[in-house]
Amino acid sequence: MPRTGEPGEHPAQGTRRQVIEQAGKGAHCPIDPQRIDIAALRTLTYGLYVVTSHNSGRLNGCVVNTVVQVAGEPCQVSVSVNKASLTHEFIARSGSFGVAVLDQETPMPFIGIFGFRSGRDFDKFGKAGYRLGLTGCPLPVENTLAQLEARVRTSVDCGSHTTFIGDVVASRVVKPGRPLTYDYYHQVRGGKTGRGAPTYGLDMSVCDKDERKKKMKKYVCQVCGYTYDPAAGDPDSGVQPGTPFEQLSDDWVCPVCGAGKDQFEPE
Ligand SMILES: Cc1cc2nc3c(=O)[nH]c(=O)nc-3n(C[C@H](O)[C@H](O)[C@H](O)COP(=O)(O)O)c2cc1C
Repeated sequence: MPRTGEPGEHPAQGTRRQVIEQAGKGAHCPIDPQRIDIAALRTLTYGLYVVTSHNSGRLNGCVVNTVVQVAGEPCQVSVSVNKASLTHEFIARSGSFGVAVLDQETPMPFIGIFGFRSGRDFDKFGKAGYRLGLTGCPLPVENTLAQLEARVRTSVDCGSHTTFIGDVVASRVVKPGRPLTYDYYHQVRGGKTGRGAPTYGLDMSVCDKDERKKKMKKYVCQVCGYTYDPAAGDPDSGVQPGTPFEQLSDDWVCPVCGAGKDQFEPE
């Protein structure tokens, strides 16, 4: 397998402004950061997965949003893994990785363990249920719709991340259900992206304050004067704090007078 660079050379982190400033760093062609609109990148769609591997009897894995099937014949998948992560080290050493496709209702603490903690100081599979696959990679069974295993065919040094491309050697459906998408995780579950993700810094949660304010406008009911404040939501109607007005369902009504969404105007 080609060499993929040293861990931690390119920490993938920063605010939106830093992301824009860094956009051209290390690129293989001249880049004018003024031409990069982060909002455009935010429209890309992803799923959420746990990618796993092993090394000398140790098991590990982390949440990723970057698993993609890249070829059909032979069937191959790719995953982009941060060079600073333990999962990167394990995949580079073992030459194999496992993938668990996460269920839409995966509990947030599960994502917390696999997406925000490192196996360097915590045994993630100490309590999580798994089975060992053909490649020796652990394949989580909880919150998992399907499991895949791949042997690394090649890898590409992408700066902060290595993209591992592997031949799928085994796959199976664990249970029917809806897969967790990146969008659902953010918009409905209120999740955040971990520092190691290639998309870290593009979330609304770390955007410039002005932009966030713009996105979180208050709306006033023209019938009774009630103000919908996205920061507070409408917990009595099951609307979580942090829900923008635009994302309220069409049948949401004013909690005071029952007027429909169309009776509201920006404050
Ligand atoms: C929603 C979400 C998406 C993520 N996507 C990726 C990803 O695509 N690639 C990656 O390397 N890390 C990603 N991460 C970050 C890793 O899960 C995180 O850095 C993890 O702590 C690494 O653990 P490890 O050191 O045990 O491998 C993501 C985290 C979250 C919460």
